[in-house]
Amino acid sequence: MKTFLRNTGLAIALTTAGWANAECSFDLVVGDYLKFSMTDMIVKKSCGTVTVNLRHEGKLAANMMGHNWVLSATGDVQPVAMEGMSAGLANHYVKPNDARVIAASNIIGGGETTSLTFETAALSSAGSYTYFCSFPGHSYGMRGTLTIVP
Ligand code: CO
Repeated sequence: MKTFLRNTGLAIALTTAGWANAECSFDLVVGDYLKFSMTDMIVKKSCGTVTVNLRHEGKLAANMMGHNWVLSATGDVQPVAMEGMSAGLANHYVKPNDARVIAASNIIGGGETTSLTFETAALSSAGSYTYFCSFPGHSYGMRGTLTIVP
């Protein structure tokens, strides 16, 4: 099921029916501002493949207010973002072949959309994962937590 979640601040809850809020596909919205529409994503490991759809509802071009969705271990965010900045827009602000990058979308500008998929096989419910925008200067505020649940 695809949902169109805005961050509601809801806590992660394990119910008898399973993990509340856990999904295999996510639709995120970004715009001419520095935040994602969701700051927590809860992914079921059993999904196997996860889809992230990113839509930029703003007006500014990719070189002015570009956004992407990059996933790494939380401890890798800063170096991945720093080296991504050096890689430049031509590389979507992600260093090519960076093994610390679990998944990354293209940079998009206003009116554009992009999608990516990644596998849950290598991800663990014991891990700490953060998604962020690697456009220069965006990663500090434009980030969220990705949690793996069974
Ligand atoms: Co951004």
